Amino acid sequence: MTERTGSGHANAGHIEYGREWPLPDEAATEALAVRLAHVLDDGLVLYLHGPLGAGKTSFARALLTALGVGERVKSPTYSLVESYMARDRPAWHLDLYRIADPGELEWLGLDALAEPAALVLVEWPERGAGALPAADLELRLDYAGLGRQALLRAFTARGERLLARLP
Ligand SMILES: Nc1ncnc2c1ncn2[C@@H]1O[C@H](COP(=O)(O)OP(=O)(O)O)[C@@H](O)[C@H]1O
Ligand SMILES: [Mg+2]
Repeated sequence: MTERTGSGHANAGHIEYGREWPLPDEAATEALAVRLAHVLDDGLVLYLHGPLGAGKTSFARALLTALGVGERVKSPTYSLVESYMARDRPAWHLDLYRIADPGELEWLGLDALAEPAALVLVEWPERGAGALPAADLELRLDYAGLGRQALLRAFTARGERLLARLP
């Protein structure tokens, strides 16, 4: 694991800091999600970035399952949004890959995502720009050989605290 601080990305104008992990296999992706679940004690808006097949849905599924979602976590590729209860909190998993314009999201009633206690996981968040709550954390997954590389960055005090506590 490496850590770094500093600027270089603009989301709400600043970045607190980021942490990186190699994820050699799917189990490593799931283990990172489980570690995040263990330190999560509040609502969270997490944007999931990365190319198709990078593991955004794998990560979201492992996180929701670790938070006690008993039902199978489906990819919201076609439904755009799936909702769950995760440890007594409303949880939302969105995949906006098929959205061409953020205006298409109006009918989804995304106001509920702004609830501070909610867990909001968004794949392809750039396609919903302006229609989504701001990210506390952004996870970037990239291909690295046969595995993946993860970069997790915080953009709010809530996100920064979680990132610092992540084992
Ligand atoms: N760290 C990893 N190394 C190698 N393969 C992984 C890793 N994490 C997940 N995978 C695999 O990559 C694929 C990711 O698919 P998915 O989670 O649907 O990607 P996305 O939602 O980013 O399009 C799955 O087949 C999963 O088994
Ligand atoms: Mg996906």
